[in-house]
Amino acid sequence: QEARFRASARDLTAVPTTRRRTADRPPAGDRFTSTTDSDPSLPEVRAWAAERVTAPVGEPASPVLGTRAEVDAVVARGRAAQPGWAGLPAAERAAVLRRAADELEARRGELVTLMAVEGGKTVEQSDPEVSEAVDFARYYADRAIELAPGASLHTDGARFTPHVLTLVTPPWNFPVAIPAGGVLAALAAGGAVVVKPAPAVPGCTEAVVRALRAAGVPGDVLQVVRTDEGETGRALVAHDGVDAVVLTGAAETAALFSSWRAGRPGGPRVLAETSGKNTLVITPAADYDLAVADLVVSAFGHAGQKCSAASLVVLVGSAGRSRRLLRQLVDAVRSVRVGWPEDLGVTMGPVITPPEGKLRRALTELDPGERWLVEPRPLDDSGRLWSPGLKDGVAPGSFFHLTECFGPVLGIMRADTLDEALALQNATAYGLTGGLHSLDEREIDRWLDRVDVGNAYVNRHITGAIVQRQPFGGWKGSVVGPGAKAGGPNYVAQLGTWAADGLPA
Ligand code: ALA
Repeated sequence: QEARFRASARDLTAVPTTRRRTADRPPAGDRFTSTTDSDPSLPEVRAWAAERVTAPVGEPASPVLGTRAEVDAVVARGRAAQPGWAGLPAAERAAVLRRAADELEARRGELVTLMAVEGGKTVEQSDPEVSEAVDFARYYADRAIELAPGASLHTDGARFTPHVLTLVTPPWNFPVAIPAGGVLAALAAGGAVVVKPAPAVPGCTEAVVRALRAAGVPGDVLQVVRTDEGETGRALVAHDGVDAVVLTGAAETAALFSSWRAGRPGGPRVLAETSGKNTLVITPAADYDLAVADLVVSAFGHAGQKCSAASLVVLVGSAGRSRRLLRQLVDAVRSVRVGWPEDLGVTMGPVITPPEGKLRRALTELDPGERWLVEPRPLDDSGRLWSPGLKDGVAPGSFFHLTECFGPVLGIMRADTLDEALALQNATAYGLTGGLHSLDEREIDRWLDRVDVGNAYVNRHITGAIVQRQPFGGWKGSVVGPGAKAGGPNYVAQLGTWAADGLPA
């Protein structure tokens, strides 16, 4: 162990192998899952990362498209390369994807470093993200085999034709797993891909692309480009030669992309997982210790900057009057250690930019009836490092009840009954994640029947979906397009068109 660590410490591209999270682990078999998306106790990874998370990151290497002609050329290259990729036997494409999994695993350290330096992500958060990217590669490799002509998904005579070219536009908050997932899915389908990194984290996406190229994905089949945020960005998103756009981002961005792509013969084909306003419900039948721990992980992991993060807790009945529960929660929030990722003892890193707009309001203002139990404060001159906030008295229908703020603030609401809690939970426009902490089987059944979210978690934190075992996707206003879940059985199959044999596609 020790020798392996010392050897790997010399080389950015070789890191100690950590656990494999999912695809090769059997399902738990019951719904009281207790997996975690943040395992703070990996001494070798932490020690290894301590020396590296401040490493300088080079300039991004991908081209910035400056003109419409450059956009056209990228699209044309992708389309020209796709038939060769789609023409490979599915087993060969799957083999490339499995090699991609190994390449990503081998670059764990580089990816963790880039996520820290570019995105402020703590190792505790970024290390499992690499595992998720690895899992996507292995899982989608299997889906590529299923989609081959004559294979299992074609038993009713349906015929799958991959989209020729898919544009993947990932967010900055999961700068490795989400671009990897979108790109690998489109490749598994047999399509060519253009990926446009989030402007804050281009190096992370470029590193993912290098891993996939090293695994054998041809250059023109997978291109990485940047654009300006104005005309060339729009030209690429709206391009006739882009068959589908896979977006993870704000609901407003999805609406904008859909409007740019309206009127296309096949429809806009924007497949988006978007915003969330996510609630965890705690009933008097909960294990309060577990509930508080899961709530704090859900609310403050990556400083609350996850579409899946908990930003509300609803305390039901006597749970809302429990001084012990409230004190535990306050203590837990106060005990969150905030800092920059190079300090491996921190449990919460910075926000991506100094807060503005909705997040600034959430961190600095109270609506009528609200009061701070733990008031958030800026901790240094950067404007990015904030201590976490806990506000009580969030009123039904208020700004904080209904608005995604995307940062380290958690609000408390109260309800007399589980049904009232469900009404509060379901009141938002979104439906991404939600949680229940209760050990009462009847409450669990009732809640699962009625909660309007894509990902419903019982007695577990509500972030950190797991490929194959707990696939991830939205519901209601959190999803645009067909909405098959990432890391689930149908995700790859939505990246193409289906027709019955013998009929025109
Ligand atoms: N897939 C990410 C999570 O589940 C967003 O937290």
